[in-house]
Amino acid sequence: MRVKSKYRPRLWIETECERMELLEERILRDGAVRPGNVLKVDSFLNHQMDVALFKAMGDEWARLFADAGITRIVTIEASGIGIAAVAALSFHNVPVVYAKKTESLNVDGEVYRTKIQSFTKKRIYDVFVGKKYIQPEDRVLIIDDFLANGKALEGLISIIEEQAGATVAGIGIAIEKGFQPGGRLIRSKGYHLESLAIVDSMDPETGAITFRRSDETGAL
Ligand code: G4P
Repeated sequence: MRVKSKYRPRLWIETECERMELLEERILRDGAVRPGNVLKVDSFLNHQMDVALFKAMGDEWARLFADAGITRIVTIEASGIGIAAVAALSFHNVPVVYAKKTESLNVDGEVYRTKIQSFTKKRIYDVFVGKKYIQPEDRVLIIDDFLANGKALEGLISIIEEQAGATVAGIGIAIEKGFQPGGRLIRSKGYHLESLAIVDSMDPETGAITFRRSDETGAL
């Protein structure tokens, strides 16, 4: 576990096992803790986007899911799109599909549809994916920026497995809020979930952030 007050010098050794630290260090440097357990990372992740960081994240997921036989990446708008699109470069340019939240004339034909409850935004919204963009033989990697309560993931899993009959072969998350139940829920269902940074606690008063060590992930 590392805390902000023990911030280490940013000496990057670009080995595979250091990549997760790249994101953690960026969160410590540029992230901000807001009241209500919100981690603000819009300067590099979900508003302004650091594509070099995204590429390093994609490379790390490619290493972690090397044996998963991924044929397609699925994400959800809006913040997942940039991360997933860059990650596809590390997965031999597999197609990337994002679940849409708003009806659009650009989607023709039939769609898979589900409802997702957002605890953060206190509302339920519909998401949908064109049926032709997920095939039963697909081995899908789901990618998203945050994992909090896991409702977005549950919705995507419903579309991919229950409706399209495809396989969720992996789930890659940039930042998991380990003190919320989503990670535990998804892992307990047997999915291979890899979060590049797991925040175990955040203090809005001091700005201190603690991360879970990677060897603690399996203890969930
Ligand atoms: P869940 O999807 O895991 O159930 O979580 P929740 O309902 O709490 O999250 C709703 C939205 O808020 C999601 O974005 C999620 O990525 C985002 N979110 C959750 N916790 C944080 C946080 O601490 N910081 C930030 N920056 N975002 C957080 P969304 O509704 O899909 O919106 P979008 O930003 O992708 O458009």
